[in-house]
Amino acid sequence: MISRRAALAGLVVGSAGLASAGLFSNSFVRRAIFGGPVFAAMAKPLAIPDGLAGEVRDGVRTYDLSLQRGRSTFFDGVETPTIGINGPYLGPTLKMRAGETVRMNVTNGVGEPSTLHWHGMHLPASADGGPHQIIGDGETWSPQFEVKQRASMFWYHSHMVPRTGPQVYQGLAGMIYVDDDETDRLDLPSEYGVDDIPLVLQDRLFTNSGNLFYSTSMPTRMMGMRGDVMLVNGTANPYFEARTGKLRLRILNGSNARFYKIGFADGRTFQQIGTDGGLLERPYQTSFITLSPGERAQIVVDVDDGRPALLRSFELSGTGLGGGGMMGGMMGDNLTFDLLDIRPDAGRARSAQIPNRLINLVRPDPAQAVGTRRFVMQMGMGGMMGGGGFTINGKSMDTARIDQTVRVGTKEIWQIENPSVMPHPFHIHDVQFRILDRNGSPPAPGEIGLKDTVVINANETVRLLLEFADYADPDSPYMYHCHILEHEDAGMMGQFVVTA
Ligand code: C2O
Ligand code: CU
Ligand code: CU
Repeated sequence: MISRRAALAGLVVGSAGLASAGLFSNSFVRRAIFGGPVFAAMAKPLAIPDGLAGEVRDGVRTYDLSLQRGRSTFFDGVETPTIGINGPYLGPTLKMRAGETVRMNVTNGVGEPSTLHWHGMHLPASADGGPHQIIGDGETWSPQFEVKQRASMFWYHSHMVPRTGPQVYQGLAGMIYVDDDETDRLDLPSEYGVDDIPLVLQDRLFTNSGNLFYSTSMPTRMMGMRGDVMLVNGTANPYFEARTGKLRLRILNGSNARFYKIGFADGRTFQQIGTDGGLLERPYQTSFITLSPGERAQIVVDVDDGRPALLRSFELSGTGLGGGGMMGGMMGDNLTFDLLDIRPDAGRARSAQIPNRLINLVRPDPAQAVGTRRFVMQMGMGGMMGGGGFTINGKSMDTARIDQTVRVGTKEIWQIENPSVMPHPFHIHDVQFRILDRNGSPPAPGEIGLKDTVVINANETVRLLLEFADYADPDSPYMYHCHILEHEDAGMMGQFVVTA
């Protein structure tokens, strides 16, 4: 059954909703171009991506991944052309264990060059899947690497400069679960799809005929591509029936540009147990987390009392991540909308308590760094006027230029500065880093752990401690960049090599 309404598919709630939707730049652009209604989705069970453990061949865990075009049904009776991995939209969740060797056979069948990047993973640059490991149409790329991570959720996505934005938007992304012994011992909820649930948050715009709408206009480049329909794991308006008293949610902000402030409609608290690259030392009780594009968090929510838990994205004003003023209004940052309706099942099973102590992390010691490098993220007037202008240290990305050379086996402080008017998520390949301070103050409890992507608010300076433990290769660079994909595609990216 299709129901069509003139606004945000019934997903937007609260007084700010409908009125601001008109200000919401891309949706304004969409309406100006297409007019008419948007689609509304009836509530549907949340899709859970297939888990894929691959196959062990000669001691190497091997995954066959095929990038392919397909059609997806986000709204009943409406087919949308999309791209996915082993399916029409998004890809399987790759399951692997720390310490094992994995091989990916990635075959590109999408009709244009692409790449597949393993976001957050520490691996040789030649296996990284960045803009230098292009897979031509019809070709297969087979990187192999050892899984050198703490247990966490990582993800993979196209990194096809300057087409990363549109390719990810059409569906070229998926999750990676890494397990290890240390985390297995903790007895956390870990039954995939039952009490351990991956959630990929993505906002999308649709044309009146149900196609995905991607804009390359200058306002879109500035603010990043944002949508007015929320998809979670590719499901619009999803619900989830909880069969256990506790649910572990592994949340990825897989959006091109939207930031989220995530909590529950009834204000309940929950426990954050992990950051991008691993668990926290101890659970952190909170009622909100914020995620910028590329960031992940693991939370545990208690639904033992049987009350429905409505996971919601709240307006960003007051977080420093947007909100106020005309810019915030245009970006849709003052919207509150629902993400996932969690419905506790009457026969749900009780879950074990979450331990007070999770893992040990060493305290980051800035005195161990051999030096400090500065990175200044800028959106100049050039960016506004249609020229370049999306830069780091005054330079737009050039795949032929190496911007930084670091020494293997060393630690460094990277100081990221944002003198621009909006927040940018800064992401670094190859490493899991620690945040030393934000404008001189210690990081918040929810970002004390291992990170690969960090929000740099407007007028903020954030210092990170990085370790380049191994994999010297002067010929293959790693990337660092803004994870707003339109900024990245427009040049807010640089390259570093690790040398012996
Ligand atoms: Cu998630 Cu360089 O990317
Ligand atoms: Cu990455
Ligand atoms: Cu940016």
